[in-house]
Amino acid sequence: MVPMKEKTVYLKSFGCQMNDADSEQYLGILGRAGYKPTDTPDGADLILLNTCAIRAKAEQKVFSELGRLREYKLRDPSVKIGVAGCVAQSMGKGILSREPAVDFVLGTGSAGDLPEMIRQAETGRRATSLLAKREFDLDTARLESVRTSLYHAYVPIIYGCDNHCAYCVVPGVRGPERSRPLEGVLREIGDLAERGYREITLLGQNVNSYGKKDNENIMFSDLLHAVCKIPGIDRIRFVTSHPGDLSEEVVHTMASLGPICEALHLPVQSGSDRILSAMRRGYTRAHYLQRIALLREAMPGIALSTDIIVGFPGESDGDFEETLSLIGDVGFDSLFGFVFSPRPGTPASELPRRVQETVAQRRLQAVLDLQREISARRNNALVGSLVEILVEGRNPRDPQGLTGRTRTNKIVHFQGDVSLTGTLVAVRITEGRPNCLIGVQP
Ligand code: SAH
Ligand code: SF4
Ligand code: F3S
Repeated sequence: MVPMKEKTVYLKSFGCQMNDADSEQYLGILGRAGYKPTDTPDGADLILLNTCAIRAKAEQKVFSELGRLREYKLRDPSVKIGVAGCVAQSMGKGILSREPAVDFVLGTGSAGDLPEMIRQAETGRRATSLLAKREFDLDTARLESVRTSLYHAYVPIIYGCDNHCAYCVVPGVRGPERSRPLEGVLREIGDLAERGYREITLLGQNVNSYGKKDNENIMFSDLLHAVCKIPGIDRIRFVTSHPGDLSEEVVHTMASLGPICEALHLPVQSGSDRILSAMRRGYTRAHYLQRIALLREAMPGIALSTDIIVGFPGESDGDFEETLSLIGDVGFDSLFGFVFSPRPGTPASELPRRVQETVAQRRLQAVLDLQREISARRNNALVGSLVEILVEGRNPRDPQGLTGRTRTNKIVHFQGDVSLTGTLVAVRITEGRPNCLIGVQP
């Protein structure tokens, strides 16, 4: 028998952790079809982009990347190029007409169709799969994922979103909310624990609504209890939580279960009630602040992070001041700031009173400047404390040093032996910078 030539795939992932998890899953599916991952497009048989449509810039990035990758196909026409993910789902066939080098388009629910898309491409047909899920067994595909890290893993628990925030494409490109049955979640985490994984991040657009649309009566806090019973997992995190759905029960569950990390990403988007209502976020500033107080009362050392959108249509100077004051009042450990991007098909893209780009950029800079000060102050306050680090490996900027993360998800650089990778070590913090901490082993 002639041995099958091993093929290679270059996969580039854009966007959120959900895409990262899907990309690892694609590599698993491709592994079964005989493809090995490679970290360069040069010489790869298959080039796959897993795309993000959240803002116009994210979408533009995909097309400029495709423009570059086209060269590989011009050099060797047997190279196949596929586009998966959220831009694939939103533009569908439109991608084939816009970029002639693309062979196939794979939507967000079509992972099971990936081998079929490649077969079609090999016969010279350009194909699109936007819904099929042919022969797709999610739990098996999750178990076969080819993961980036050997110690930390993503585990999706809920897909899609039913919230319909006025600016957001996610419900359109990821579909309605579907909770993954608990059994598959537990099997995936059990398997990871047996393979030596120490830290798990549970994923979903709104993890707090886990189970709400199903009849099984297993809610998010039940899931947390079940996950924490799996031996071998030291740390559990979850993203993203919606402030409107974060219940007192979940907060108390977080505080009571040892493996759940003292960190929460709770996107607020704006500090102005008027803008929150126009965004259709479904909560007020007061409610948000009350959730923060509840979290800090239950877990005094908790690290909090958030997302902010500036320049939403109709955002006045006064509204923006309220966002700044909320950021100051909460004192987040970190935040992601974005300028509002009008996305086709979303209600916010039709709203009048657009904020001028220069004004929006100035507001974004003010948010980032304020947060830099707050982060530096909060990180400085940790100097002298002893923290537990999960060591991730060498510090990319200092080959002699190591990098790891605290339970509060802060990056720590320290000197140590590379054999510590993948273990938990105690480190004394000696310096707090805006984006990381420096420490020494005591
Ligand atoms: N499900 C999560 C976040 C999903 S998108 C949540 O509800 O919080 C991640 C972040 O991108 C959002 O929190 C928001 O801050 C930002 N974002 C989403 N749509 C955007 C848009 N049209 N323009 C600018 N930022 C946007
Ligand atoms: Fe988008 Fe809102 Fe759903 Fe988050 S909760 S994914 S911002 S619609
Ligand atoms: Fe982007 Fe899709 Fe995630 S739009 S943020 S990759 S769900």
